[in-house]
Amino acid sequence: MTYDLVVIGAGPGGYVCAIRAAQLGMKVAVVEMRKTLGGTCLNIGCIPSKALLYASEMFEEAAHGLGALGVVVAPPKLDLAAMMKHKDDTVAANVNGVAFLFKKNKIDWAVGEGRIAAPGKVVVKGEDGAEQTLETKAIVIATGSDFARLPGVEIDERTIVSSTGALTLPKAPKRLIVVGAGVIGLELGSVWRRLGAEVAVVEFLDRILPGMDSEVARQFQRMLEKQGFAFHLCHKVTRVAKAAGVLTTAIEPVAGGEAKTIEADVVLVAIGRRPFTENLGLEALGVATDRGQVVVDAHFATNVPGVYAIGDVIRGPMLAHKAEDEGVAVAEILAGQAGHVNYDVIPSVVYTTPEIAAVGKTEDELKTEGVAYKAGKFPFTANARARAMRHTEGFVKILADAATDRVLGAHIVGFGAGEMIHEAAVLMEFGGSSEDLARTCHAHPTMSEAVKEAAMAVEKRAIHI
Ligand code: FAD
Ligand code: NAI
Repeated sequence: MTYDLVVIGAGPGGYVCAIRAAQLGMKVAVVEMRKTLGGTCLNIGCIPSKALLYASEMFEEAAHGLGALGVVVAPPKLDLAAMMKHKDDTVAANVNGVAFLFKKNKIDWAVGEGRIAAPGKVVVKGEDGAEQTLETKAIVIATGSDFARLPGVEIDERTIVSSTGALTLPKAPKRLIVVGAGVIGLELGSVWRRLGAEVAVVEFLDRILPGMDSEVARQFQRMLEKQGFAFHLCHKVTRVAKAAGVLTTAIEPVAGGEAKTIEADVVLVAIGRRPFTENLGLEALGVATDRGQVVVDAHFATNVPGVYAIGDVIRGPMLAHKAEDEGVAVAEILAGQAGHVNYDVIPSVVYTTPEIAAVGKTEDELKTEGVAYKAGKFPFTANARARAMRHTEGFVKILADAATDRVLGAHIVGFGAGEMIHEAAVLMEFGGSSEDLARTCHAHPTMSEAVKEAAMAVEKRAIHI
């Protein structure tokens, strides 16, 4: 049989692409070497981390948040095995959901490692070494990414862990060192701090969360420090020595200077992710890559006819929803439609306490690009619902073009930020202005009123500050 489309990799990019292509009438197969569908995101990424983030947040709330609301409970006890079961059940429900969707859409799953032998030919090597060849009109590479290694520091996934090991620790470490103050470090650092670990974060740069608005990052760092995080900014880890169950970590100022050591039971290395293309046969096929990324044009086509790529393996933010939208777009392009992704409006969320959410330009980017803009800000301390829930930390910032008032960016630090950001995303997709947002009636009392007030603050007419 000849397929219309063979997708390699069943992460959010690949599985969504396959489903959309099947909806459009294509005969589709997906090659996936993992034992379950869903890729990094569903198995060892977004989903298990969010299950642990939610559960650990509830643990902390029960210990420190409920009393102030007049809800008196005995100090909570941690049943880590039950918490891990909640995480595993959540993962199972999601990966099984994708298997169900494959059946529903008549998508074939070829289990094994895929290699592109030639345009239109994908060889699948099963666990037993047996190979089969799938013939296809088009191939989409959606092989995702893998964690970056720190030279000289070997990940054993027990005491020196990547995010994968950090999702399955058998007990809360007493002391955790996180290398990298990015999204993974702060999310998984939060999980284990809430469950009892002292967390020290070593970051190469002079700030946390690179890429996020620097005002947001500065204020958020102070919030994390109040929670007990210790930060060693402008430092790099040069060595991790293991002796008698203790990890002695040598850290050194990036600018040079005296090295010091800090001790821990577990070290989490979270210094970024790299595109994954091992054994795919790209070199032999002549597919162009750039620093590991598969190079694609605006229509996700590589330089080899009939071979496309999406998700973490190509340029752009390594986010599940970005991969999904690219999956839909490339399927529609293959079906002769006008699939498209608007890279100017891709929200991103850090699922910490409080949450951080952003869409569009940061203030730093607008300054660098020389764009004249106006900023409107509103703090949650002035929001009635936030006070009623004791979630007054944080603020909303709306950035609008000084001449046209078009909203160019929105940044939220606060409880529920990851949900609230989408009203700004929809507004920006429609090219809306801060006035459009300011004149949209918002239900009272809601946290979202702070978004409206921040939009009103762009023209200095916020009511409650
Ligand atoms: P992947 O999800 O990496 O899937 C690729 C799949 O391809 C894998 O299953 C792999 O086994 C398979 N594969 C690779 N090579 C082959 C081959 N040759 N043959 C067969 N199969 C192959 N993003 C968010 O948006 N929100 C979050 O909250 C979030 N949390 C995260 C938390 C963690 C701890 C991590 C690690 C990542 C997180 N991410 C999050 C990022 C997100 O997981 C990725 O952006 C997303 O999974 C990328 O999707 P993808 O389809 O490109 O690739
Ligand atoms: P990251 O790129 O977010 O952060 C890595 C951090 O490590 C950076 O601050 C960087 O300066 C620092 N760093 C790099 N080398 C270092 C070194 N040698 N010593 C000290 N610090 C060093 O990468 P992270 O956190 O590993 O996450 C990978 C990707 O996964 C991210 O790009 C993100 O898009 C995705 N992700 C998304 C989530 C979300 O959307 N909520 C959650 C988790 C991951």
